[in-house]
Amino acid sequence: MGRMNDKVAIVAGAGSIAEGWSNGRAAAVLLAREGAKVFAVDRDIDSANATRDIIRSEGGECTARQCDVSIAAEVEIMVAACLDAYGRIDVLFNNVGMQVVGGPLDVKEEDWDKLMTVNVKSMYLTCRSVIPHMLSQGGGSIINNSSTAGIRFTYANVAYSASKGAVKQLSQNIGVQYAARGIRCNSVMPGYIATPSITDRRITNTNSTSAARRYQVVSSVPPGMLPMAYSIWLRMNPGSSTRPN
Ligand SMILES: NC(=O)c1ccc[n+]([C@@H]2O[C@H](COP(=O)([O-])OP(=O)(O)OC[C@H]3O[C@@H](n4cnc5c(N)ncnc54)[C@H](O)[C@@H]3O)[C@@H](O)[C@H]2O)c1
Repeated sequence: MGRMNDKVAIVAGAGSIAEGWSNGRAAAVLLAREGAKVFAVDRDIDSANATRDIIRSEGGECTARQCDVSIAAEVEIMVAACLDAYGRIDVLFNNVGMQVVGGPLDVKEEDWDKLMTVNVKSMYLTCRSVIPHMLSQGGGSIINNSSTAGIRFTYANVAYSASKGAVKQLSQNIGVQYAARGIRCNSVMPGYIATPSITDRRITNTNSTSAARRYQVVSSVPPGMLPMAYSIWLRMNPGSSTRPN
């Protein structure tokens, strides 16, 4: 299709916490299919390498890079490495995020601080490093991965919810400041997506190995509700004829 031909895209969090399709991996592969040169960044280099290998196996261009995007010095080195490799940065997809489930009486202070650093500060750091280069190129696009949890109640998830609300406002504030100079900055707010981080955590939290839990998660997504959920459940349970209630 080539909508991204000659563009260079940094995808932060391009790996996956477990085998399968995370948001970052899916976005990286899709960007490459559209012609982008992808700089696949993750703190877990094996996972970033797995994304790179998928892209290369399809004939795309990708470099994998280890970086903890919550650490300023690592971010600066990573951005310099992308410029060394590809000479420009057109897209920054800030996809890194973690969860600590619970309300204010459950979440430990150190976990709150860590989550805010990983989910929010990392996006400030990458924007701070990338924007000067986008300005000198005449523009670029920054996409920050927020969540519906940033605008409404989902479940007791106070730190994550607060962080995703912050991502939304961080994006709006940067977007308005730089729009006239050619840099778009938007946040996206996905609902549930059956990535490994969701399906694996859900099973751990409920102390269940039941695929019905996965079904419960995906069936709560509005588009296509039951048909979509059922088709995903069937893929996870090949040969099964009974749908869980
Ligand atoms: N899956 C969903 O239902 C859903 C819904 C809404 C929003 N989101 C958001 O989408 C994003 C990705 O979620 P996912 O489900 O694909 O999860 P995931 O955990 O599989 O992907 C996140 C990736 O980021 C990497 N990472 C974590 N901390 C890092 C750091 N400090 N530096 C560099 N890399 C780091 C992880 O190693 C992992 O590969 C998150 O921001 C999440 O909040 C997910």
